[in-house]
Amino acid sequence: MRKYLVFIPGGLAACLGIAMAALSVKQPAHRPAPAITLERTQERIERGRYLYEQVAHCAGCHNERDWDKFSAPTQPGRTGAGFAFPEELGLPGKVVAPNLTSDRETGLGKWSDGEIVRAIREGVSRDGRALFPFMPYSQYRSMSDEDVFSIVAYVRTLPAVRKQQPATELNFPVSLLVKFEPKPVDGKVNPPPKSDRRAYGEYLVKMGNCIECHSQAEKGEIAGGKEFAGGREFPINGFVVRSANITPDEETGIGKWSEDRFVAKFKGYANMNQGNAPKHTQANFTLMPWIEMASMPEEDLRAIYMYLRTVKPVYNSVEVHPPLSLAQTQ
Ligand code: HEC
Ligand code: HEC
Repeated sequence: MRKYLVFIPGGLAACLGIAMAALSVKQPAHRPAPAITLERTQERIERGRYLYEQVAHCAGCHNERDWDKFSAPTQPGRTGAGFAFPEELGLPGKVVAPNLTSDRETGLGKWSDGEIVRAIREGVSRDGRALFPFMPYSQYRSMSDEDVFSIVAYVRTLPAVRKQQPATELNFPVSLLVKFEPKPVDGKVNPPPKSDRRAYGEYLVKMGNCIECHSQAEKGEIAGGKEFAGGREFPINGFVVRSANITPDEETGIGKWSEDRFVAKFKGYANMNQGNAPKHTQANFTLMPWIEMASMPEEDLRAIYMYLRTVKPVYNSVEVHPPLSLAQTQ
């Protein structure tokens, strides 16, 4: 009996050891990067700029930002040079958005177009490593071929900035679990027709990754049933903001907002820029990319509104700017 008891933990440990060893060499699901060379037409570069700087707001993570100013505008001149996320965000390890500029040593200068396309939509780096899904590739999967090509065409125009960002280092067990996230994209991806405003709105909301900031997370996953209900807390630079409830709940969400009010909220920031943005205080602190999103075409904002009307209303009252003493993290 005694021998048996000793035997089981030993056996279990051995099994676990083998499983861990297998996981540590496991490759994420991936396919060879598509062999494509993209034509960098003016049209693509313009569309790519719009998606990168505004809708998808890649800049919000891959650029340095001016945290002292309202909505933390991105630093001009160093677009795409990367950003190391502050520890206070509570991510599972050291998470760094790499340098995307065309610098050959520290950026994407040596990557093929296909490798960048694959990283954006399928979540594997050039060397086949799984990317931490804070890089929203699961949302970008549905990005159409032409849109992802446009983003790559634009990224290729970013002036080279020599800046070696440190590597992402995830804590155990996330470092192993992350390998299950990437999924290859098979076949052609078409965008929904713009005439289907709800579907096009959903497409933009995915690209904008609105769900990530606007939902609470439980153990790193979006809390089921509370999508878009807000309440996620972001402590940065001594301030704290919680995301707003953007479900159609009439009392606690944007259920009573008309389409025009929604558009006006974004357009209200249209005259703000990096130069004249007010200083951040606890009363106005935000990560919502108002400055960048203010210049989105009205028809895109209207499509987003149309889609948000159709998500499940969730009753969740959020104090967006809590007194610092009440924030959970204090
Ligand atoms: C919420 C933050 C966030 C957003 C938004 C974001 N990224 Fe990332 N991105 C990251 C992080 C973090 C990594 C690195 C993950 C890792 O190393 O595991 C990354 C990795 C990448 C990589 C792989 C680079 C490499 O060296 O492996 C590419 C390419 C990339 N992002 C492009 C984009 C583009 C283009 C967009 C917009 C369409 C975008 N990202 C939006 C956070 C973000
Ligand atoms: C990086 C995080 C982040 C992303 C991405 C983001 N938001 Fe926000 N959003 C916030 C935060 C935080 C607030 C609350 C503070 C504020 O109003 O500025 C907010 C506020 C809002 C509000 C104001 C609601 C109100 O009651 O005043 C709307 C509308 C909104 N977001 C819509 C969107 C949409 C649509 C998207 C995607 C296209 C999006 N957000 C993406 C963080 C984000």
